[in-house]
Amino acid sequence: MCGIVGYIGPKSVDSVLLVGLTRLEYRGYDSAGVAVLDKGELHIRKEKGKIKALESMLRDHPVEGRMGIGHTRWATHGEANRTNAHPHVDEKKRIAVVHNGIIENHYELRHELMREGHVFHSETDTEVIPHLVEQALRDGKSIEDAVFDTIKRLTGRYSFALLHDGDPDRIFFARDGSPLIYGKGAGESFLASDVPAVVPLAREHYIFENGQWGWITKDELHVFNEEREAVPHDLKKIEVKAADLDKGGYEHFMLKEIFEQPGMLRRIIQHRIGDNGKLNFPEKAGSNDFLIRLSRLIITSAGTSWHAGMVGKMYLERFTKVATEVDLSSEFRYRNPVAEGDTKVIAISQSGETADTIAGIYEAKAKFLRVLSFVNNPESTIARESDAFINLMAGPEIGVASTKAYTAQLIHLLLYATFVGGIKWLTGKEERQELFEEVRRLPEMMEHVLERADVIKEWAKDFRETKDFVFLGRSWNHPTALEGALKLKEISYIHASGYAGGEFKHGPIALITDEVPVVCIAPQGDIYEKMLSNIEEVRARKAKIISIYTEGDEKIQSMSDYAFPIPKCSELLSPLLTVLPLQLLAYYVAVERGCEPDQPRNLAKSVTVE
Ligand code: F6R
Repeated sequence: MCGIVGYIGPKSVDSVLLVGLTRLEYRGYDSAGVAVLDKGELHIRKEKGKIKALESMLRDHPVEGRMGIGHTRWATHGEANRTNAHPHVDEKKRIAVVHNGIIENHYELRHELMREGHVFHSETDTEVIPHLVEQALRDGKSIEDAVFDTIKRLTGRYSFALLHDGDPDRIFFARDGSPLIYGKGAGESFLASDVPAVVPLAREHYIFENGQWGWITKDELHVFNEEREAVPHDLKKIEVKAADLDKGGYEHFMLKEIFEQPGMLRRIIQHRIGDNGKLNFPEKAGSNDFLIRLSRLIITSAGTSWHAGMVGKMYLERFTKVATEVDLSSEFRYRNPVAEGDTKVIAISQSGETADTIAGIYEAKAKFLRVLSFVNNPESTIARESDAFINLMAGPEIGVASTKAYTAQLIHLLLYATFVGGIKWLTGKEERQELFEEVRRLPEMMEHVLERADVIKEWAKDFRETKDFVFLGRSWNHPTALEGALKLKEISYIHASGYAGGEFKHGPIALITDEVPVVCIAPQGDIYEKMLSNIEEVRARKAKIISIYTEGDEKIQSMSDYAFPIPKCSELLSPLLTVLPLQLLAYYVAVERGCEPDQPRNLAKSVTVE
């Protein structure tokens, strides 16, 4: 994962790099560092821990300069300590490099370089890059040739930015597999792993393609391809606003993003459902091209997006009558799936950069399957590698635990399924209109749920010391149970497991004691009575019951120790509401336990390693 930034321009480089790194902290926060070139000399500062630690080091040991590179790390090779923190340098400290990705042949390169007399200081794969460049310079090559030759030696996925002490006006870069963008401001230039890092100073940007490399000056971008030919590059306006990137008065991004869901849903519904009730999918995905001769769908995704895929399967099968499978990207890519006939693939991803999902897309394409993706970043690798994509329109999601992107995925999967069902003449106009009327009420229903957030904040105090949680749901809310458990464990570090209610008695019920709270997701619907049986079973074993139920259901309230109502709605819409109290539960329990919900340990938002 990791985030990289580069800056060259009139401003003090340390402050620009720190802002950029803070915006990229969602990509990893094990350690951070900067390299600044000033009067022909490289100055390196790095520190273990979050950007704040680097910031305080820079206060004590300031650096001066107008060009530099920075890095925030999610450790892959080597422990998260100061030595392994980036930037890495060659032994003469003439070249400094920040890198995102994995150099797979680093071991061979390191040993080859050691035989040439190079001394390595860190355990990282990255350190081979400055040494390779320095070796090429030693061999009499120009810096451009040295960078180009180095790229040719690397295998794996990477993007990097590089400073050379003999080049006071240029920052070099290369991309192959990990994201990298160029940002252009007024008399200043940026490199970054993601656009938010350069907002609001840069007004325009260019997204590098794999295999591209080159350098930036304060006014210019020079890009080349693998054949060393100059590549034309059109800059595009940056649409992200600085206001989208702050906490807006909330204590954490996660809480802000939970509360953004009603407004987000309203925006999506307005955009996707026309006043005449016609669905609007102007993307290529809406063309009949993808739908003609569709006999089977495979959804591939990871984590929370996988849970959305599980609900999506139910929407797609219900409205399109197309058999749909859901696979974890990390399994799909290796299992050599049988994919004959008219199978199509749907990839779901908030970031659009998840390495396993990208690999799944390549696997699908190798089998000549067409891929439609649902992504929150239309400029991401997944959007660009798919045959068509649907923009989730959730806006930037910064909290590491996904919340609003999940409900954006659910609503889009639902609307897309009814859209396809309509094209196939499987859902009638009236049925759709009835559903859409209820969908239009969803934002208000969400607001109603969120108004009662304080109830859950109070409950959270009772679970400060809890060691294990179980989440149960069936049918539409089986994925909700998995999602509730994932949210809780990733940000509060409490062990939590989600199960299908019917499966619970086949083993997991052995976990139940009076110390294991059981969250039962039991809105009204076809399997409501079955969920009641689950509640009875766990109550008989003295577990504390936390239930999510439909307003007015007194029976469940009387059976529960903690009960949270959601408004009455169709069962198939309930996952968009039942997940909200579970997001809040995870958030408030994490805060109660003194955890940092926006930056949970060992995690990063964009999982760009395999
Ligand atoms: C959990 C979470 C992760 C992501 C997963 C896939 O809260 O955020 O499980 O859902 O890493 O990421 P995307 O959707 O970006 O492909």
